Amino acid sequence: MNPDPVPLNGARFRSEPAELYRELRREHGAVASVLLDGDIPAWLVLGYRELHQVTGDPVLFSRDSALWNQWDHIPDDWPLLPVIGRGQPSILYTVGERHRERAAMVSDALEGVGPFELRAHAERFADELIDAVCAKGAADLVADYATLLPVRVLATLFGFADEQGPGLVAALNDMINGREDAIAGQLHVAASMARLVADRAARPADDVVSRMLAMTLSGHSQHSHGGAGSGGFTHEEITQDLMVMMAAGHQPTADWIGNSLRLMLTDERFAASLFGGRRSVAEAMNEVLWEDTPTQNVAGRWASRDTRLGGRTVHTGDLLLLGLQAANHDPQVRTHGSALTGGNSAHFSFGHGEHRCPFPAQEIAEVIARTAIEVVLDRLPDIDLAVPAESLTRRPSPWLRGLTELPVRFTPAPALGGAPA
Ligand code: HEM
Repeated sequence: MNPDPVPLNGARFRSEPAELYRELRREHGAVASVLLDGDIPAWLVLGYRELHQVTGDPVLFSRDSALWNQWDHIPDDWPLLPVIGRGQPSILYTVGERHRERAAMVSDALEGVGPFELRAHAERFADELIDAVCAKGAADLVADYATLLPVRVLATLFGFADEQGPGLVAALNDMINGREDAIAGQLHVAASMARLVADRAARPADDVVSRMLAMTLSGHSQHSHGGAGSGGFTHEEITQDLMVMMAAGHQPTADWIGNSLRLMLTDERFAASLFGGRRSVAEAMNEVLWEDTPTQNVAGRWASRDTRLGGRTVHTGDLLLLGLQAANHDPQVRTHGSALTGGNSAHFSFGHGEHRCPFPAQEIAEVIARTAIEVVLDRLPDIDLAVPAESLTRRPSPWLRGLTELPVRFTPAPALGGAPA
């Protein structure tokens, strides 16, 4: 096994991650030693079984970033701080019984979303976005569509009014892009969430925020263990979790839409379905979760004591990165290449274990993404890529996998909502 740590950046994480993870697995085994920005050491878990072990044991491999043995070496302006999270009181970094209760509160609140209501909101906003470009005969399905849609639907489900949507879209994308407006974006989203929580505390309605508050008041959720003092979340905690749901929900769902449309527009296997019906939108979306998943790597888990993993000695406080895409490609479980994708959802793309993506959240993402793709196919039936497939590029991130743009052309069409823009 090659002991030399590998820098977790560079163009190959963007241009050919699957090949890079195969190489890392060949040279370093199921657990590779990597370097984050500033030569900060971490482990990247590449093996399917090893990842199952890590995400299946939340005591040994904790989500509590306070355990990290590198904090003394982390400057305040370290670029990965938003990804790692220090002292953030959200569901992401809460562990044990308190985490189980918070996860139950979030799950129950999302479970209250009606499937028809969800589909209707997704279709309405998708049609609105297509109305804005359909007369032009050309569009960028990333900038004009995928990055504008999921947050609109989530905002409505949470309880925001339609007119607040565009401001939240801009602020959230600024926050996620991590450039000069990131802090201003985060402050705008946080202030909007806090105001909504206060409004709903005074005037409950049929939405996600009101359901979260209701569970706090009752101290119970149908999944909580009902112990004395269970539930009882502060408005600050609910606001923090709403921020996580908005950020953790928007970008990967937007990338799921973009990556699936790219596959359908560039891969012959889907060409027929593009013009011949919808039989394989679900197949394309599932293949993307196995082969080109939006959340590539997650930071992560911290070892609560010395242990062994994949032939490596992991020390107390070491950071383990969850290599979701690499594990999806592990030859130990993928013995016949793509044989596993059709309908099989044993991939790691939504995580696993106590901190996995809540099931209702996965369903919400699936309905938003599927509706988004179907509306494009219905409204722009002769859509085609406007550039060579090989010229498409990905955003420079080892964490998320999404397109920088997806230029398409189609026969100009009338807007549904009256005169085109
Ligand atoms: C394609 C879309 C999505 C993908 C690929 C995705 C992926 C993930 C993954 C991999 C995790 C686990 C991280 C870990 O183990 O540390 C996670 C956690 C989470 N996701 Fe998602 N997610 C998606 C959509 C959503 C949506 C739409 C929502 C909310 C409406 C959401 C809310 C959450 C929350 C709250 C957590 C934290 C759970 C916890 O710590 O208990 N996600 N997601």
